[in-house]
Amino acid sequence: MNVPFYTSTREYRAHKDEFDAAVLRVMERGDFILGEEVAAFEKEAADFLGARYALGVASGSDALVIGSDILGFRDGAEVLTPTFTFFASTSCVARLGAKPVFVDMDPDTLNMDLSDAERRVTKKTVGIIPVHLFVQATPMQKVMDLARAYNLKVLEDAAEAWGMETKINENWKKAGTIGDIGIYSFFPTKTLGAYGDAGLMVTNDEELYKKIKSYRVHGSTIKYHHDYIGYNSRLDTLQAAILRFKLQRTKESIAMRERHAVHYTERLSRIAEVRIPKITENNRGVYYVYNILVPRRDELATFLKENGIGTSIYYPIPLHLQKCFAYLGYREGDFPVAERVSKEIIALPMYPELHDDEVEYVCDAIASFYTR
Ligand SMILES: Cc1ncc(COP(=O)(O)O)c(C=O)c1O
Repeated sequence: MNVPFYTSTREYRAHKDEFDAAVLRVMERGDFILGEEVAAFEKEAADFLGARYALGVASGSDALVIGSDILGFRDGAEVLTPTFTFFASTSCVARLGAKPVFVDMDPDTLNMDLSDAERRVTKKTVGIIPVHLFVQATPMQKVMDLARAYNLKVLEDAAEAWGMETKINENWKKAGTIGDIGIYSFFPTKTLGAYGDAGLMVTNDEELYKKIKSYRVHGSTIKYHHDYIGYNSRLDTLQAAILRFKLQRTKESIAMRERHAVHYTERLSRIAEVRIPKITENNRGVYYVYNILVPRRDELATFLKENGIGTSIYYPIPLHLQKCFAYLGYREGDFPVAERVSKEIIALPMYPELHDDEVEYVCDAIASFYTR
């Protein structure tokens, strides 16, 4: 049996007529740049998220750079960011001349360790980038308390967090809608994935909304009048049309992911070598990725590959050990939890269109690897 780590073709084939119609609508209309579908998607996305404003941009990475620029994460300022995350959560501030201050992770939730974050606050710290990784949000009540105590701006990297909910002030809120600005990625593998690059920025603050709107079109509000040195980063209209259709099905897709996760957990929790990250209280998780932590991880990955099973390692090298960040002066051993997790973590196939017998096959293969 072949179980790909990710595939978009099963979804496309199941809903070919709707996808084709969405794309053709844009082709017929010809409004490719910030067209009708973009505005409609932004409204529908804001409604789904419960955010006041949502603006489409070209990618999650662009959204992080634009958000960092607007919030002043630049020019020598210090910004707290997890070392265990995707590169873009940190490159955004580094490229603007800010200093990323890395923070270790919680070994059970795989999110940022906020006690470690607080220890690293200095007089130069201006902001924090909580990244809601894989399944559940960083504890946002604590993030907002920290932000209030030290006067920090909060840029939520919710690139992986579409649909995740977390409790704050006794209310359930969507991850990404709580800080000053939140960003989402619609990279094809994401829970709400486009058929190309795409991203979204959200805020509840009118001034920030106006700035984002201007920054994504070269810092102008009136054509050829530039108030800021902005960017060229717009959500493509074709992608918006695709996303609008997928948004209609998003609750169903999330539920299907959940079903596979329950299946995996039920089977894999019987294998002594496998550790499964827990969803903590105050979180309603969404399985963007199904990760396990295991001994002999690389051998297991090779074994699964030989058996036709795709896997992925998020993330094999914590950011403090990346060559491009050597100038920051961190060394091996500085973030022991992140370094350990990066050697043990492995992601299994997880998408709505997985079949039950495929999940069984993956679990059987893992069990047989550890009993060989
Ligand atoms: C945590 C995190 N931040 C940022 C990004 C960047 O998003 P994009 O690929 O849309 O640029 C991603 C995903 O790729 C991500 O997983």
